[in-house]
Amino acid sequence: MLPLSLDRSDPRPLGLQLADQVRRLVLAGTLSPGDRLPSTRRLAADLGVARSVAEQGWDQLRAEGWIEGRQGSGTWVAGGAGPVAATPSRRPPTETGAPLVHLDAGTPWIDPRHAAAWRRAWREVSAATPPRGYDDPRGLPVLRELLAERLGRTRGLAIDPDDVVLTAGTTAGLRHVLAVLPREPVAVEDPGYRAAVLTVEESGRAVVDLPALEPVTDLATACAAYVTPAHQHPLGRVMPAEDRLTLLATARRDGAVVLEDDYDSEFRYDVAPVPALASLEPDLVAYLGTASKSVAPSLRLGWLVAPRGLRDDLDRHRRITHDAPAWPVQRAYWALLRDGYVDAVVRSARRTYAERAPRVAAALAPYAELAGPVAGMYSTWLLPHDRALRARRAAQDAGFRVNLLADYTRSSDLTGLVVGFGGPTDTQLDAALAVLARSLSE
Ligand SMILES: Cc1ncc(COP(=O)(O)O)c(C=O)c1O
Repeated sequence: MLPLSLDRSDPRPLGLQLADQVRRLVLAGTLSPGDRLPSTRRLAADLGVARSVAEQGWDQLRAEGWIEGRQGSGTWVAGGAGPVAATPSRRPPTETGAPLVHLDAGTPWIDPRHAAAWRRAWREVSAATPPRGYDDPRGLPVLRELLAERLGRTRGLAIDPDDVVLTAGTTAGLRHVLAVLPREPVAVEDPGYRAAVLTVEESGRAVVDLPALEPVTDLATACAAYVTPAHQHPLGRVMPAEDRLTLLATARRDGAVVLEDDYDSEFRYDVAPVPALASLEPDLVAYLGTASKSVAPSLRLGWLVAPRGLRDDLDRHRRITHDAPAWPVQRAYWALLRDGYVDAVVRSARRTYAERAPRVAAALAPYAELAGPVAGMYSTWLLPHDRALRARRAAQDAGFRVNLLADYTRSSDLTGLVVGFGGPTDTQLDAALAVLARSLSE
């Protein structure tokens, strides 16, 4: 039985007291990574409290990354939590069995304070009746309505709900568009989004490298160009107005479609995001949006606004494949959007990133050069490959996974590290930064 005692005279909710005490046990080393924890039912019985109290405590700790596991499969202390992270072990994590803590560019911070709203939305889904047959091939109409209004307001897209197609995320949207484009090469930014490169290759097409920071002046051999204009992935730059116009003019001249991956524009913490490229020339740009950064990548939900010329083919493709996100996910996201959950988690995450980004900069700026302006949940640092590799190995020995910039390049010779700060807890992030800075200073 865990040495816990909850104080009913303490004004803090019992679940949060519980989370606090377990966190202390991990930090003190009383509990270690991999230690199994009681189920919420057992814990509630041991402490003489309602099960919801134990659930709130476990939810909080899980969201902070201190514990892992789910109902039914058990719960245990997360790898990299506590003194293991603060005093890194030299043993590779495979020996300890503890999983690595990922400092990747794609994992968002989700504020656990909004967990009740999340549960409310899913309860609503469980009480709703699913469509009897195959539903609208473009996806749930009420959700498309909300998204069309929102994309108009926040991204400058003058669209109506029929223009929106719901997808199972950005790569699914990309696959849809590839399904209706000619079988010709696709140009992708380099450095660029690896999943886009692999998805294009899996479609049987060659990838043409577009140097990420240069204007696009030639798409003669490509049927499409995949770009991240709001926040170049992973160098961070916002595509300048002149380059936007050049890209559109090139695509128009060469008969190519622009694939705009707008993955994290809601997470600028300095200025408002520039309007989407698709707002300038909707008949040339396929706009790809995602819930992966604002809510969770595991939700597998995104949206596609395709150029009018592709829509009939896309509708036909969807009617044949039914390759739509699952109805419960669409229905839950509608409730989460309608009730302000999405806005609330985005606001909280933006505050967290704005606070963490300077901490990453303070640790790494003495040793590496920032690749571009920082927004969202990661920053990219330029440094020689051998030093980046050494720092990555040191991080790995201490239980952290950090990506190399080389993982995002094909012909570009830029090297360095891409450091994500959405996934780890504050303690984990500080421990990882200390290890990286120590290695880079050697
Ligand atoms: C550049 C970029 N685009 C899109 C996504 C999201 O992809 P998906 O919507 O398929 O989860 C990510 C996630 O890491 C990303 O880094």
